[in-house]
Amino acid sequence: MLLLSQAESGQLLLQKSRLNLGAVVKDLVEQFQIPAEAAGVRLTADVPSQCSALVDRVQIERMINNLLSNALKFTPEGGQVRMALKPSPECIEMVVEDTGCGIASEHLPHIFDRFYRVPGSGAKSGVEQGLGLGLSFVAWIVKAHRGKIEVESTPGMGTRFTIKLPGDGAGADTLELAGEAASFS
Ligand SMILES: Nc1ncnc2c1ncn2[C@@H]1O[C@H](COP(=O)(O)OP(=O)(O)O)[C@@H](O)[C@H]1O
Ligand SMILES: [Mg+2]
Repeated sequence: MLLLSQAESGQLLLQKSRLNLGAVVKDLVEQFQIPAEAAGVRLTADVPSQCSALVDRVQIERMINNLLSNALKFTPEGGQVRMALKPSPECIEMVVEDTGCGIASEHLPHIFDRFYRVPGSGAKSGVEQGLGLGLSFVAWIVKAHRGKIEVESTPGMGTRFTIKLPGDGAGADTLELAGEAASFS
């Protein structure tokens, strides 16, 4: 709950460093292959080998972890989860999409709220219920990096999260206080 309390205090210290986001994503996707296999879900990554970004590694890893674990949790056996990373001069686009249960449109505006879980959506049986906090962290991390997150979903078909992070071309390692976290959404 460290992230939550830091965020509640309204500030979070971002420790940005220049790193290869392509390698970070590849490593995380690799770590998720075992749970994906156990769930009978095909997990693929479409990631360039080089994609330089100035980000807080711990927070960005936490963000990707949350999105991938949701995708696996809400996708039935035989489904697919795909993660893609597309660098462009203006921004870095990150996509996590699944062929899972989807989210009805009336719930979409709330999924980034703290403690919100779609009623009755039910993660697959045998999968631990979450607290409904993961996506509120994700939204906060995106915001702290001055990025944007979008979600598109079709019930019964799947869900796609698209994150755009500013592609701050040059820049050195920095410590940065990102404020106004309390508003959260
Ligand atoms: N990939 C997804 N597919 C379907 N529903 C999702 C997906 N990701 C999130 N959700 C819905 O949004 C809710 C909030 O997500 P999150 O904050 O990560 O909470 P948790 O994973 O603890 O339930 C989930 O309970 C679920 O109803
Ligand atoms: Mg979650």
